[in-house]
Amino acid sequence: MTRIISPSMLSADFGNLERDTKMIDRSAAEWVHIDVMDGVFVPNISFGFPVMKPIRKATDKVLDVHLMIVEPEKYVKRFVEAGADYVTFHIEATEKCDECIELIHAAGAKAGVSIKPATPASVLKDILAKVELVLVMSVEPGFGGQSFMPASLDKVRELKALRDEMELDFLIEIDGGISSKNAGEVFAAGCDAVVAGSAVFGAADPEAEIVKILEA
Ligand code: DX5
Ligand code: ZN
Repeated sequence: MTRIISPSMLSADFGNLERDTKMIDRSAAEWVHIDVMDGVFVPNISFGFPVMKPIRKATDKVLDVHLMIVEPEKYVKRFVEAGADYVTFHIEATEKCDECIELIHAAGAKAGVSIKPATPASVLKDILAKVELVLVMSVEPGFGGQSFMPASLDKVRELKALRDEMELDFLIEIDGGISSKNAGEVFAAGCDAVVAGSAVFGAADPEAEIVKILEA
C-alpha cells in the first residue's frame, strides 16, 4: 500500500519559505502541497507563480499543486513551467475538463482532478481514465485548520472500487483536517496520499509529525 504525505505550504511561514521547504525536503514526506486560491472559486486568496519559485528551488521533491481557481485551463501550463509535477484542478471550476487535462499532459506534468465535499464521486467517472490523481476534499476548500468531514471517506471507498473495477491506476489523495489522529483510518479507507497543513506546521517538531502521520 502506498502512503504519501504532502505537507501543505499554506500553513508554512511565508517569511521563511526556504527554511520550511527544506524541512520538508529533509523529512519523510515525498510530496509538497501547494494551494493556489483566486478569491473567486474560494473565498480566500493565497499565492501564485512567484511564490512557487523559492519552493521549487529549495527541493527536488514532487510539487503537488492544488488549483482552487476558476477557468484553470488558462493557467495550467504556467504552473507546469513553474515546476509543478502534479497539477490538480477542480471539476466544479471548469467546463473544459478534457482540455485542462490535455494541457497539463502536453506541458509534461501529471493531471489531477478534485471534488468539493458536496460533489459526488460519480461525476468523475468519465475522466478517471485520463488522470493520474483524484483529490477528495475533506473540508470546504479555502482555508487550512478546518475539521475533517468523515463523509469524504465514503467517496474514497467509492473511487477505490471504481479504480479496481475499471482497472485504472490513478492515486487517491485527501485534503483537509488530516492529522495523526485520523490518518490511520484515512489510509485504511484507500487513500494513497494525504495533505496535512496545520497538523505538520503547527507541531513542535514538524519532521517528527510527518512520520507520525505516515505511521498512524
Ligand atoms: C484548503 C487547502 C488545504 C489546506 C489543508 O483549501 O486545500 O490543502 O492547506 O489544511 P489543513 O491540513 O490544516 O486542513
Ligand atoms: Zn489543498
